[in-house]
Formats: sequence, structure tokens, C-alpha cells
Amino acid sequence: MNPLNPTILNPEGSLRVVVTKELPGDHWKQILIQAGCRIEIAPGTKILDQATIIDLMGERCDGVIGQLTEAWDATLLGALKAAGGRAYSNYAVGFNNVDVDAATRLAIPVGNTPGVLTETTAELAVALTFSASRRVVEADRYMRGGQFTGWLPTLFMGQLFHGKTVGVIGAGRIGAAYARMMVEGHKMNMVYYDLYPNEALEATIADYGDFLEKQGEPRVTCHRAATVEEVLEAADVVSLHTVLDPSTTHLINGDRLKLMKPNAILVNSSRGPIIDEQALVAHCRQHPDFRVGLDVFEKEPEMAPGLAELDNVVIVPHIASATVWTREGMASLAAANVAGVLQGYPVWDQGGVLPFLEGATPEAAPSIVNAEALGLR
Ligand code: DGY
Repeated sequence: MNPLNPTILNPEGSLRVVVTKELPGDHWKQILIQAGCRIEIAPGTKILDQATIIDLMGERCDGVIGQLTEAWDATLLGALKAAGGRAYSNYAVGFNNVDVDAATRLAIPVGNTPGVLTETTAELAVALTFSASRRVVEADRYMRGGQFTGWLPTLFMGQLFHGKTVGVIGAGRIGAAYARMMVEGHKMNMVYYDLYPNEALEATIADYGDFLEKQGEPRVTCHRAATVEEVLEAADVVSLHTVLDPSTTHLINGDRLKLMKPNAILVNSSRGPIIDEQALVAHCRQHPDFRVGLDVFEKEPEMAPGLAELDNVVIVPHIASATVWTREGMASLAAANVAGVLQGYPVWDQGGVLPFLEGATPEAAPSIVNAEALGLR
């Protein structure tokens, strides 16, 4: 018996799939069971180390659903391959924890879970934006501490966003959803930096500008900046939505923080190492009106020394995708990736992942990041 004592579902299934954390909902289990899989789920909340995952996979493991907290490098992927593994899916849209090149060399398809996190993650970025700018957490602590002695003209003053400028770095799916929420909800102008223009987003904001103009209101504008610096200088709030790779590690460092307005807001719901967290602590100490909302941390789950003591920083534990619909949807997609590959199905090419979220799913693997490299498309 495995010392980790995993929960076993469908013990008679002919394909063995290891799941390194319990996932929400039941649909994902149905997908794997219908594909003839025996499911083994590691119990508990402890982040598993590589040795434990190798033990869990044992001598025979056809597929794995793993977590963004695990380093799926050549060692771990090699162990999966040695156990006969043919499929891996991250339970995440981001896959910076997976050595995709190594997986491709080992001919292991790597799945991820796009399309169900977009609005949910953007909503949390908006929540952090306003919590930081309107000092919600500080004010909550003040109330609970019994310090409120009556309304005062200067109590907890923050920043108004209506009509100001929102900056987005990385205007892909989630960055664009955040931009729309801020522009349409608060009539903000937008400036963004991305390697590629987001024409659909620019058109949406132009249409909204036309609509406002017809109402006799000022237009909103959208400008694609040539540099990250331009966004940092211009914006009243900057939200980060880039992927993490060597080019974006410490994208926001001490020098770039100095370019931001002293009372700007910085929000990060993408990946922690995009910000140099020590430099951020120093900057927040020097600029008490500068405010920050963080969902992710450079050395998760740890925080840089001093971060937790800062009143001008709102911190939450990597929960941007934590709505029931999204987390259950991610489970369905991860399961359908593994089940689809193990059944020899093609990669889904019809756009959108909603058909995978309930009931019988299409005969396809919804999202395989190395599909091209493996000739699966
Ligand atoms: C992801 O899926 O990459 C998110 O970070 C999970 O919240």
C-alpha cells in the first residue's frame, strides 16, 4: 500500500491516474472514470515534494494531474515516463512550473486549463485594486480594533479612479478582462504594454468611447505603449498580467517602481517573481501613499521580510482563480486533458472550452501546450 494512503476511485479502472491534490466538484472524476481510469488522489493540503510524488506515481502511472506548486522538471517528468506515463496536466492555466521542453523530449503532452480563469482572476485583480486604493483592509482592522470614535473629514482618504488612467502590463485574456472592467466600469483611459497589439480590446474601448461621446460625455482612450516605463509613468493604477519567464522575472524592480506616481496602485495577480519583492518593500516604506495589492509572492508561500508589516499593502494567498465555477472548471479541463490524451483523442480545435465543463465532453483534449511540438495538431 502507498504510504501516502491516497483516496482511490474506480479501483478496477485499467489506466492509473495520480492526482496530487483533491480537486473540487465531481465532474472531473466522471470524465476520468468514463475513460476507464483508476484515480488515486493524494490526501491533505501539504505541498508535495518530488520524492513523494515519485512514490505516489510508483512503478506504473499512465497520467498525472499536478499542481502549480510542484516543480515538474526533467526529473519528475522522467519518473512519470519511466512509470509508463503518457499524459500530464497542470491544474492551472500558467505552466511556468513545468519544463515543457523536457516533456516534449519525453513525448509527454502537457495540459493546462485556459478559458475558465479569465473573468474570475480579473475580478480579484479589481478587488485588490479597490481594497488597496480605498484602504479597505486597514479600515477593517481599525474598526475591529475599536478605534472608530466617529466620522472625520480626513479618515482613510484614498484615490478616486473615475476618469483616471489604468495601466495593464500583459494584455492577454486576463489583462484585457481587467482592462474592460476598469475602463467600462470607471470610465478610465487605458495604457498597456504587450509584445502584441490587442486589437479586439482596442476596438472595444473605441466603441465604448463612441458610446460615451453620444451621451455627451468625454471619450475614453486606449493607447499601446512602446515600453513598460511609459505605462508605469502614465498610469494611476498598474495591474500585471504577463506570463512568468526569464524576460519578465523582476520586470518590476526598484528603478521601475521609482517611475510610478507616488500615490499609484500596483496590483499583481499573475506570478510573484515578476516583482522584485524586496525592492517593493523598500519602495512602500519610502512612499506611504503608494499602495499595492498582491495575490502572488516571489517565494510563495513565504513573503519578503517586512511585507506583512506594511499598511499600504493588501495581501491574499494566491486566490485569484478561487471561485467555485472556475476551480471546478479547471478540474474538468485538467481531467479531460489527461483522459483525452490517454484515449488517443485529438487536441480541441474548435475554440472555447465550455463544452468540457459539464455532462459528456467532446472526444478531444481541451488544451495541450506542446501540441504543435508533438505533432498533435
Ligand atoms: C493559474 O491557473 O495559473 C493560476 O495562478 C491559479 O490561480
